[in-house]
Amino acid sequence: MCGIIGYIGESSAAENLLDGLKNLEYRGYDSAGIALNDNNRLKIFKAAGKLNNLCQIIRTEPRENTVAECGIGHIRWATHGLPNLENAHPHRSADGNLALVHNGIIENYLELRKELSADGYHFTSQTDTEAIVHLIDRELKNGAGFEDAVQNAVRLLDGAFALGIVYRQEPDKLIAVKKNAPLIIGIGQHENFIASDIAALLGKAEKIVRMEDGEIAVIRRGEIKITDFAGKQVMRQPELLQLSAESIDKGGYKHFMLKEIHEQPGIIRALLADGLQIDTGSLRDFNRIEIIACGTSLHAALAAAPLFEDWCRCEVSVQPASEYIYKKQRTGADTLVIGISQSGETADTITALKQAQKSNAQVLVLTNRPDSSIVRYADKVITLQAGIEVSVAATKSYTAQLLRLYQLALALAKDKNFLSSEEISGLHNALRQIPVKIEEILAEEEKIKNVAKKYARFPAMAYIARGQQLPSAMEGALKLKEISYINACAYAAGELKHGPIALLDANMPVAAVLCRQAPTYAKTLSNCEEAKARKAPVIIFSDQIPQGNFDDIVLLPQNCEEFAPLTEAAALQLFAYFIADELGREIDQPRNLAKSVTVE
Ligand code: M6R
Repeated sequence: MCGIIGYIGESSAAENLLDGLKNLEYRGYDSAGIALNDNNRLKIFKAAGKLNNLCQIIRTEPRENTVAECGIGHIRWATHGLPNLENAHPHRSADGNLALVHNGIIENYLELRKELSADGYHFTSQTDTEAIVHLIDRELKNGAGFEDAVQNAVRLLDGAFALGIVYRQEPDKLIAVKKNAPLIIGIGQHENFIASDIAALLGKAEKIVRMEDGEIAVIRRGEIKITDFAGKQVMRQPELLQLSAESIDKGGYKHFMLKEIHEQPGIIRALLADGLQIDTGSLRDFNRIEIIACGTSLHAALAAAPLFEDWCRCEVSVQPASEYIYKKQRTGADTLVIGISQSGETADTITALKQAQKSNAQVLVLTNRPDSSIVRYADKVITLQAGIEVSVAATKSYTAQLLRLYQLALALAKDKNFLSSEEISGLHNALRQIPVKIEEILAEEEKIKNVAKKYARFPAMAYIARGQQLPSAMEGALKLKEISYINACAYAAGELKHGPIALLDANMPVAAVLCRQAPTYAKTLSNCEEAKARKAPVIIFSDQIPQGNFDDIVLLPQNCEEFAPLTEAAALQLFAYFIADELGREIDQPRNLAKSVTVE
């Protein structure tokens, strides 16, 4: 997590850095800071909390203090040290000549701290980053030039790091370093940038250069020189930046999350029209599938797994990436490993895929960011084409993941000849109805809002479902806790009576997700009655009005059991959104969370 940015050009570095950080804020919002390198003055401005606090400081600063055409900036998601001013980046050397921003984790920072302390360096923060500044400073004090000092220092670092560095004595230069953390260079008119993500470059840069791991870039206003850590020059052609600034605009919606929920029918339509766009023929021979993901992406995997089992007759295991890494696996050449990650930067998923690759498995990745780090570990990539998702809570990327997984399962079933062509075309027809069904749910937004408002003041909520609907309940509960901070847990409805029912009373609403076609429909409804009998308010999300006396019913369009998670998702997302909105939460940037989780 964390986001870094750098600017060198002919206009205001402060303005460019703050603009860029605005588009990186989804990566963390514990603190923000910039360093401006003006002729002979290296000025640092930092603020704890959101970027806005920093913007206010800059706004009230006399203009002459913020004049500079070179600088670096940072947005922090705390890993080492509290989210306070002391630990905010940029970090600087004791003499104030060097400033640095960092995204990633330095694994050997404790040893480095010890070594540097023995050399007389005094640490003023608890961060791992500060060790890097002192390392470079030590090289400079030993007589190395700026570039050599950086090169010598980064060779001593273990872990993940994307760095932006400025040096007071050389204000015509910005140095960027990349290893295991995302970093790209943006090229504008007489100006260059560095950024953790393309989002920070939209409307600024015309072309980009992707840095690779183990590279250092020395960036001037009109020149970019890239070398590896050994100093060998690397030649790389710039690419056109295809995205426009509008792709990260709220488009009139109160929050990005609401806008992104509304984008879902269009995205699904486009995915259906485009098809999978990969050749699945070579995947036909696998009879084992392992799906690895985290958070919402994991829920998409859980929803799709039964279809791979059923339609493709494969043994399927779904595992949280953070667990996969430490468990003895059966992964081998007979296994297809599917990694799912919206951001493509999730450290847990990337580490798990690296491990899977070592066991000779074929790796297929589903990601919304074809430019992200995860694609390096993939033999095949399926893109979600959902557009940039700005809200930290995943919505449109979830339904795009579901859709892509359904398309993949259908393609494999066809290749393996386990479903007849009539069955396959029937399922494709059902998928084609989905965008209209989601539109019907969105058209009922006000009704869902009115139901949601009634449940905003409860301290906790239980979600229940069975079978194919259980991942929907899990995702609904995750959405609610992420953005409203209401304690929400999902249970297999049949498990309720084995323990969780002890929690139920008039203060603990139960949200039940049902599909009329599912063989478990009646049983789940009985579980809802059991909850009612314990005085729990019950909200039913179902495609059929249930018999019984429940508190609220959110009626969904009728759907087949297999694809119902797509429609259920839209309704549960709106429900969580309107509860959080009623509570006045910061919906797009929930506390403690970040969009790209680049630490394990
Ligand atoms: O980018 P990824 O799909 O790999 O992210 C995985 C999770 O961190 C992510 O889904 C997280 O749970 C979201 N905040 C969900 O809304």
